[in-house]
Amino acid sequence: MGRYLIWGGSGGIGAAVARRLSTEGHAVHLAARDAAKLEAVARETGATFTVADALEPDAVRRASEQGAAGGVLDGLCYAVGSINLKPAQRLTDADVEGDFRLNALGAFRAIQAALPALKKAEGTASILLFSTIAVAQGFTAHASVAMAKGAVEGLVHALGAELAPKIRINAIAPSLTRTPLASALTANASVTDAIAALHPLQRLGEVDDIAPMAALLLGPGSGWITGQVIGVDGGRSTLRTKG
Ligand SMILES: NC(=O)c1ccc[n+]([C@@H]2O[C@H](COP(=O)([O-])OP(=O)(O)OC[C@H]3O[C@@H](n4cnc5c(N)ncnc54)[C@H](OP(=O)(O)O)[C@@H]3O)[C@@H](O)[C@H]2O)c1
Repeated sequence: MGRYLIWGGSGGIGAAVARRLSTEGHAVHLAARDAAKLEAVARETGATFTVADALEPDAVRRASEQGAAGGVLDGLCYAVGSINLKPAQRLTDADVEGDFRLNALGAFRAIQAALPALKKAEGTASILLFSTIAVAQGFTAHASVAMAKGAVEGLVHALGAELAPKIRINAIAPSLTRTPLASALTANASVTDAIAALHPLQRLGEVDDIAPMAALLLGPGSGWITGQVIGVDGGRSTLRTKG
């Protein structure tokens, strides 16, 4: 069985990935900032955890060391991110830089710190990042998150080439999925009904729509997939059923 480090392992999607991997019998280590939330997921899944901020390089190194028991990791998942929606005119440099640091630089640092352990995996190791459907398709008020997640997709392609064949790297690009991160957008039933109707599959995403694909991309079952950004999005990114 494998050993996996999940950044954002106390969040909506990260915790679902942790549950899925631990159900499959893998050893899971979580990293995020809030100890109480990490403890709750750890109790449920049997995971170990490190309280760490992905924006602090020392903390990232510490979490990687503690996550890699015996110095070995089979997979790394960076399920940390932001949804900062504002028209371009209202975006500040701090907004744009903050989104870039959390989504792209944070992912890059987590990968850099985990690389020695991933290289020691017995077979192929795997990295999973998260993008959004708002990179390949334009949405109003999404400039900052689209730039940050566009950088994540660039990282998938660049490192897919650089780390092959030992380490695979892919991203999932979800559409709106019910998690704490999306709660501002999913709190109002008439708004969510309207957004759900824009999806060919007529509903919003749930974390358990994302976790099976995440587990697949992290594990050996996807051993011939690297450098890909895969939509898990109710058909929103590619299909049009009306008009
Ligand atoms: N939900 C959606 O609709 C949606 C759509 C497209 C893409 N995504 C992407 O999917 C991924 C997972 O999102 P989610 O919806 O599961 O978010 P979430 O429920 O808010 O979970 C985020 C996780 O990241 C942790 N985190 C946040 N800032 C951190 C930091 N500075 N250092 C360490 N950990 C930090 C949070 O814990 P602490 O706050 O305790 O640190 C939490 O565990 C993200 O990359 C997101 O951008 C989500």
